[in-house]
Amino acid sequence: MNRGETSNQAADHLIELRGLTHEYTLGNARLPVLDNLNFQVAPGHLVAVMGPSGSGKSTLLYILGLLLKPTQGTYLLGGEDTLSFGRRQQAEHRRQLLGFVFQNGDLLENSLVYENLEFPLIYAGVPRRERPERIMEALGKVSLDHRVHHPANRLSGGERQRVAVARALVNRPRIILADEPTGQLDRANSHLILDYFAEIAAAGEKAVIVVTHDPEIASRCRRICILKDGVLYEHPRSTIEPSLAGRRFSTG
Ligand SMILES: Nc1ncnc2c1ncn2[C@@H]1O[C@H](COP(=O)(O)OP(=O)(O)OP(=O)(O)O)[C@@H](O)[C@H]1O
Ligand SMILES: [Mg+2]
Repeated sequence: MNRGETSNQAADHLIELRGLTHEYTLGNARLPVLDNLNFQVAPGHLVAVMGPSGSGKSTLLYILGLLLKPTQGTYLLGGEDTLSFGRRQQAEHRRQLLGFVFQNGDLLENSLVYENLEFPLIYAGVPRRERPERIMEALGKVSLDHRVHHPANRLSGGERQRVAVARALVNRPRIILADEPTGQLDRANSHLILDYFAEIAAAGEKAVIVVTHDPEIASRCRRICILKDGVLYEHPRSTIEPSLAGRRFSTG
């Protein structure tokens, strides 16, 4: 919690980490990755996470996405302490609150684009008649409506990434966790994805956390956080990309 913030405001955070630490074990070796992180994300925030390769960005996102339990510390999701969650509660929260875009796309290879997007809707209990409209809307946001009946394993690398984004968002989650979602995209499509994220965050109810190596993408985010040597700190936006710092975006 920042100095001066009341505990009431803290309860409004969608995500709050307190003293969060994670280390992997490989045989007898311990590999510390995240060291005592304190981090909050409120509704309306669009947050970029940057940092060198291997610094733990994906690890952090897996923990936030309830795909990995941290070794130590507290993770409050919508005010609830996630460390006490059993598998069923984790799955329930993933389904209802979280949309995850994996670094490698991770599509159902032998299925159509339509089926890839339908799967999370079935899982969430969305009636069959409502699914086509939801799927076409999500694909439209990433300019891929024309690929709806395409087999996933015949998409280009950038198309796969965009389908992965559409799939994470088709459920209208409150928190979007995107791991380098624009890594394989050209400039226009990268900005298309960021437009989508900015629109979601600007509506005020939801939050988006996006891992990126691209300063131009990061500069479009309301907050930029850097993960380095196990420590996460807030970066002053203006020094990231001076030429873009003065641009105003709808997310503030
Ligand atoms: N399951 C695991 N077991 C042991 N070590 C791991 C495991 N997963 C990741 N690591 C190590 O933890 C460190 C952080 O990995 P992570 O994938 O979080 O980095 P990253 O910041 O996402 O990197 P990149 O930018 O290359 O995607 C790396 O040094 C990696 O080798
Ligand atoms: Mg990674």
